[in-house]
Amino acid sequence: MVRLSVPCWLALPALVLARDSFDPLAYVDPLIGASNGGNVFPGASLPYGMAKAVADTNSGSRQGGFTLDGSPVTGFSTMHDSGTGGSPSLGNFALFAYTNCPDGDINRCVFPKEGRSAFGHFSNSTVSAKPGTFGITLHTGIRAEMTTTHHTSLFSFTFPSVGGDGEPAKPLILQDLTDLADSRQDNASVSVDSKTGRITGSARFLPSFGTGSYVLHFCTDFSGADIVDSGIFVNSRASTDVHDLTISRSINGYPLPGGAFVRFNSGAEPILVRTATSFISPQRACEHAEDEIPEFDFTTVSEAAAEAWRAKMSPIRVSTHGVDGSMVTNFYSGIYRTMINPQNYTGENPLWSSSEPYFDSFYW
Ligand SMILES: *[C@@H]1O[C@H](CO)[C@@H](O)[C@H](O)[C@H]1NC(C)=O
Ligand SMILES: *[C@@H]1O[C@H](CO)[C@@H](O)[C@H](O)[C@H]1NC(C)=O
Ligand SMILES: *[C@@H]1O[C@H](CO)[C@@H](O)[C@H](O)[C@H]1NC(C)=O
Repeated sequence: MVRLSVPCWLALPALVLARDSFDPLAYVDPLIGASNGGNVFPGASLPYGMAKAVADTNSGSRQGGFTLDGSPVTGFSTMHDSGTGGSPSLGNFALFAYTNCPDGDINRCVFPKEGRSAFGHFSNSTVSAKPGTFGITLHTGIRAEMTTTHHTSLFSFTFPSVGGDGEPAKPLILQDLTDLADSRQDNASVSVDSKTGRITGSARFLPSFGTGSYVLHFCTDFSGADIVDSGIFVNSRASTDVHDLTISRSINGYPLPGGAFVRFNSGAEPILVRTATSFISPQRACEHAEDEIPEFDFTTVSEAAAEAWRAKMSPIRVSTHGVDGSMVTNFYSGIYRTMINPQNYTGENPLWSSSEPYFDSFYW
């Protein structure tokens, strides 16, 4: 009786509100399939995005970068495939971070990917994965959050106030020339600008499926702390006097570790790392980064990424009444995955110049 007395023009806005408060993203769990050999990509991406940021582990099923099987993190990279078997795909130009180098000596930071795994352990409970963002805290106390635009990833590293040696934070962030499959070929190159810290580079890699090879370029910028110094590393040796490197694959089959690093005067504020890739040139990668993320505003970028997913998924509404929650989560997480791949590489084919839609990585 009371309900009937409410004029219908009052009830209507309430109905609209109820409809709009339905958020399909609440039912997406990107971590489904990140353990037991699911090989999925559980990180941050836009629908069909080329940039796909996640923490990479050294697991045997790291095909999509990250796994929840107890394997440690070896880096944070921005290109991934999802759901492939076989040899891992992409995972190029990984970043890694240290709160400081013991005794302030850069040569006492561990640069090669294999050795970094000792600093990459984490608890599963620190992992957060939502459409458009991914975060993890390593046992070193470093928290890494990441989000993306179409070609660009934005990482936010938060450091503990002191490093493992008890000295105040003087963070070092490195970027290497590896990929997940260690397929790098000869003549990879990297440069770091001693004034701005901008790191640019290029390398030729092998695809996980098919023949031939591909060249990928990148451009990385930093924000959030003043730069102390920067330089180049090769294997476990680093130098602040060298700022450009061209490196061969090496003779023993495993690519010689190499890359660049930047060191900062403070870890009091999060350090933001913006990295974009391009199949065309390092300059094009820098243009993508500057166009897509002109300010290093993590909240704005991650909210836009979530909104892009919401726009794609909201047209699909199911009744959740009386349905087991895990069923609804499986449903929306499955829909979400149909838009992780294929990747939209429009304008990024080095073999021709065209604005015709061009998509790659059509898996299953
Ligand atoms: C959490 O981590 C442990 C190892 O540290 C792993 O064996 C386990 O499978 C993980 N849990 C989940 C739910 O993936
Ligand atoms: C590396 O550079 C040398 C000299 O320019 C060239 O002969 C060789 O083909 C290059 N290799 C690759 C994989 O690009
Ligand atoms: C693919 O990328 C191009 C260029 O960035 C963009 O114009 C287009 O809207 C994208 N298509 C889809 C389906 O996302």
